[in-house]
Amino acid sequence: MVESWATAHDVDMTVFDVGTELTSEHIDRTKTTLGVSIGGDGTFLEAARSLAPFQTPLLGVNSGTLAFLARVEPQDVEAALNAVYRGRASINARQQYEVTAGEIETTGINEVFLQKHPPEERYGTKVGSLHVFVDREYVGEYFGSGLIISTPTGSTGRAYSNHGPVHYPQNNRTLQIIPHETISAAVDPIVVSQDSEIEIVLDADFDIDVDGGRRFECLEAETVVRITGADQPVQTVRTSYDDPFITAMVDKLDWGLRSVEADGPQAALESQSTSDDFKQRAAHVAREAARSAGEPLQELHGQVENIEYKTDKSDIVTEADYQANDIIQTAINSEFPQHAIQSEENDQIAPPEGYAWVIDPLDGTGNFAHGNPNYSVSIALLENRKPILGVVYAPEPGEMFYAIEGEGAYQNDHEIEPTLRDRLDESMLLSGYDPSGEFLQAFYHETQGVRRLGSAALNLAYVAAGSADGVWEHDTHPWDVAAGICLLREVGGEVTDQHGNPYELKFNAGDQRTAMLASNGSLHEQLLAHMKADGSVQ
Ligand code: IPD
Ligand code: CA
Ligand code: CA
Repeated sequence: MVESWATAHDVDMTVFDVGTELTSEHIDRTKTTLGVSIGGDGTFLEAARSLAPFQTPLLGVNSGTLAFLARVEPQDVEAALNAVYRGRASINARQQYEVTAGEIETTGINEVFLQKHPPEERYGTKVGSLHVFVDREYVGEYFGSGLIISTPTGSTGRAYSNHGPVHYPQNNRTLQIIPHETISAAVDPIVVSQDSEIEIVLDADFDIDVDGGRRFECLEAETVVRITGADQPVQTVRTSYDDPFITAMVDKLDWGLRSVEADGPQAALESQSTSDDFKQRAAHVAREAARSAGEPLQELHGQVENIEYKTDKSDIVTEADYQANDIIQTAINSEFPQHAIQSEENDQIAPPEGYAWVIDPLDGTGNFAHGNPNYSVSIALLENRKPILGVVYAPEPGEMFYAIEGEGAYQNDHEIEPTLRDRLDESMLLSGYDPSGEFLQAFYHETQGVRRLGSAALNLAYVAAGSADGVWEHDTHPWDVAAGICLLREVGGEVTDQHGNPYELKFNAGDQRTAMLASNGSLHEQLLAHMKADGSVQ
C-alpha cells in the first residue's frame, strides 16, 4: 500500500528490515525524507533509534494490536500519507535517554530496566540493592528486584505496569525513576528533568535491559549506571489519522472511564466554554479543514474524468467531491468526535439539537468540472439548527470568508461589510438556479446586471463582502447556504424566503427545496416587491 502510494506520487521508496543500522549512504540528506514503520511499537522504537541521528520524522503504522507509538491504522495509511505530503501533519519531539553502563553506551526512547541477575542456585536471593543519586544528591537505597528509568514515551509500558504515572509525552522532557518490587513500604516514583543525571551504583549483579531487549547485558556489582536525557529527540509525525494519545490510552488500557454516551460531559464542557474559546477553536478547525480540502480540489480542478450524474445532467458529483468530503469529515471528527455532521455527500442525517455541522465539500461542481474557478468549500456549525459559524473558502483565488456569530465577518484578514445601496438601478444582482429565467428577465434591465456565477455559497459570501447587492436562489439545500447565511446575517444583510419570512434551514424536508432571497438589507423590500406569492418573480 505504501509502495503503490509512493509510485503514484513519484516518491522514491526503500525498504529496510527492522534493526538495520542506517548510515548516510542510506539517507540522502539533500532530499526530504519520511520514515514509515510498519509493525507495532517495537518496530517503531527500532526505526526511531535508527533515524534519530538524521532527525528524520517517523510515521508509525500499527499492524499489531496494542500500540501507543505506531498510531495510524492500516486502513488510514493512504490518507495519512496524503496528509503528510500536503503539509497537513505536525512533528512532535519525543524525549530520548542516554545510558552508559559496562559495555553499553546507547540511547533509547522507552526505558532502562535494571533487574537483579538470577541467582545460580534455585533458592539464592532474587533481590539486591541499588543506590540512586540524582545530580549527585543521594536519594537512597532501593532494595528489591530492580528499578525502571523511563521517558514519558516509556511511561505507558513497563513503568505503567509497576504503578508509574502515565506522562503525556508531547513536549514533556522528563525522566522518571520507578521501583520494581521494592521491599520498602511506600516508595513512590520520582520525576526528574531531562537534564538531571541519574547515577545508580549496583550492590550486586544486575541485568540491564534497554528498550525491551534492544540491548541486554549482565552488569557486575559496583558498576555505575548513568542515565540522562539525550540531546537529540525522536521526531514523530502526527496526522489527524492518529488516535489522540489520551484516547488511545484510555481505550486501549480499557480504563472504563468513558461510557458509550460520551457526548453528555463533552457537550456540558462545550456549553460552559460557550464562548469564545470553543467557537474560536471550531472556526480554526473549519478554516483548516476547508484549506486542506482545497488542496486536492486544486489538483483535480479542470481534469475531471469521472463524473457521476445524481439526478440529471446538471446534478453531478466527482471524485473531488468525495475526497474533499473525507478530509473535512476527518478533521471535524478528530476535533469534535461527539458532533453530528450533515454533508451533501454523506447520508444526509438531519442535524440534531445542540452542535452539528453542515457541509458542502464542493459547491459549484459544474464550474469545477468544466475548469471554471468559481467553486467553493462550505462549512457551517449549527447550534440548535441555527448557523453560528460559517466558512466559505474559494481555493482558486485563495479567498477565505468566515464569520462567528456576534464577532464580525472576515475575508482573509480583513473585516467585510455589504454595500449600502438602496436603488435597484445602481445595483448588481446574482442569481442561482433560475429554471425559467424569470429572475433574469425581471431584474436584468432594472439593475446594472444579473450574474449567474454557479456557487450558492460563494454568492452569499460576495453579497456579505459587498461585491454584489443581492442574490436569488430558486431552490436551496441547507449545505448550499448554511455557512453563507451566517456570513450575511453577521454583517447585517437580510435572508428571507420569497415571501419575506426569515429564511429557515429545512431538514427532513425530502426533496422539498427552499427558495431564498438574500441582500445587503437596504435593497430587500424592493426585491421582495417583485416576488409573487408562489415564489416566482414578476
Ligand atoms: C449547486 C450550486 C449552484 C446552485 C444549486 C446547487 P453543487 O451546488 O450551488 O450554484 O444553483 O442549487 O445545488 O451541486 O455544485 O454542490
Ligand atoms: Ca451545493
Ligand atoms: Ca456540492
